[in-house]
Amino acid sequence: MTDKRLHEIFRDIEERYRQRTPKAAEHNARAKHCFPGGDTRTATFYQPYPAYMVKGQGCLLYDVDGNQYIDMLSNYTSLIHGHAHPKIMEAVRAQLENGSVFGSATEIQYIHAEHLCARVPSLEQMRYGNSGTEGTLFAMRAARAFSGKEMFIKMDGGYHGSHDFIEVNVFPGSGTEPGAAGLPARHVEPSAPLSVLNDILVVPFNDLDAVEILLKKYEDKIAAVILEPMLGALGMVTPQDGYLKGLRELTESYGVLLIFDEVITFRISTGGIQKSEGVTPDLTAMGKIIGGGFPVGAFGGRKDIMALFDPNQPNAVFHSGTFNGTDIVMAAGLATLELYDQTAVDQVNALGEKLRNGVNQAFKKADITGQATGLGSLAQIHWRPGEITNALESVEGFFLAGELPKFLHLELMNRGFYCAKRGMLVISTAMDETIVDKFLEEFAEALDLLKPYVVEKAPHLLAG
Ligand SMILES: Cc1ncc(COP(=O)(O)O)c(C=O)c1O
Repeated sequence: MTDKRLHEIFRDIEERYRQRTPKAAEHNARAKHCFPGGDTRTATFYQPYPAYMVKGQGCLLYDVDGNQYIDMLSNYTSLIHGHAHPKIMEAVRAQLENGSVFGSATEIQYIHAEHLCARVPSLEQMRYGNSGTEGTLFAMRAARAFSGKEMFIKMDGGYHGSHDFIEVNVFPGSGTEPGAAGLPARHVEPSAPLSVLNDILVVPFNDLDAVEILLKKYEDKIAAVILEPMLGALGMVTPQDGYLKGLRELTESYGVLLIFDEVITFRISTGGIQKSEGVTPDLTAMGKIIGGGFPVGAFGGRKDIMALFDPNQPNAVFHSGTFNGTDIVMAAGLATLELYDQTAVDQVNALGEKLRNGVNQAFKKADITGQATGLGSLAQIHWRPGEITNALESVEGFFLAGELPKFLHLELMNRGFYCAKRGMLVISTAMDETIVDKFLEEFAEALDLLKPYVVEKAPHLLAG
């Protein structure tokens, strides 16, 4: 097949996308006047321009051009019950009747917190913010204030939101600053201060030896190890057997705190990965589904650490925020948590497994060495064979795939599936087996369509 013919396959995919979304193109052209590139959230942008959604109902989304999509993204994992769930709407409406936020302590705040503390093993006490970013920011501040130490160990490719403390090696393996003790080279994200590198050390995920090297070297300087118990944004990279337990033992033996960022992974069980894996960190950061579709963040953990925030204490650590514990968020979140019981967890996790297995089978059938990773209701498409144990191995697949992720994404959009351009797939309780079957059918057809590109331009991805 000639380059011209390959080019035509891609042009055809993009052309069909453009034909389905003429109004979105107009919206994007107008939005470009006030937003750089026409978008206000880097993650939701994709080329040639994003679809503009106007309505969500259950697992369905509708765009401004009248197209219907099955929502395989759930606002980047935050909508566990899909859109406009009647019980959540009812709770929000009832709260709205009385006002959305009072600037005072309210009952629903501690009821929401009681609910979480009962479910998440590490949460003896907690506090709220407005984003997962604030959740990790204040978990780190708590660790600093409690330990009196300044440094943290984070994972290469770990994502904890967009505050300066942690904007190191969010994208893995391309550092210009030497890593400590021969470990991954480091870099800060553009616009974050270089000085962050004084305090942030980086290790590959799933590498206990690397953590021990740093703990030995900087034991008296390290406040905490912070990680997503499954790398999320960097490709749903799962912890190997014994890794989380090993981290717990290591941090305990060196007197260093352990922070789990369960902003994404809380949904894996009724109480996060810490509950399903039986490993209790000292502090936990949360966000996403606990706000029921509204902006939220939280952090919490051991009572002796959280006592630092007790405003009755003369030198309490200051933690405030105009919208912390906003009642409308708490109402939506509480209704969401009540609905997300063991039965619901089992339902979405079983669908997630079906989805991952189905994606793996489709790759096999197409003779392409791709795979799906993930846990529970979360999956990530990878264009590479072999076990993926850390972020570098995860992005390697992305580079090996050339244009495939971009055009798979657009083609899935053309077939009525709204998913992340990076290939993340998310199950909600609004889905059932027929939805997953439908996705798998269309996914297999999309792979067939793209196969000529694999044969010509990415033959290293051909199986056998
Ligand atoms: C693991 C993790 N931590 C923190 C955050 C930041 O959350 P937010 O976007 O609500 O600030 C995210 C966001 O995707 C995340 O995936």
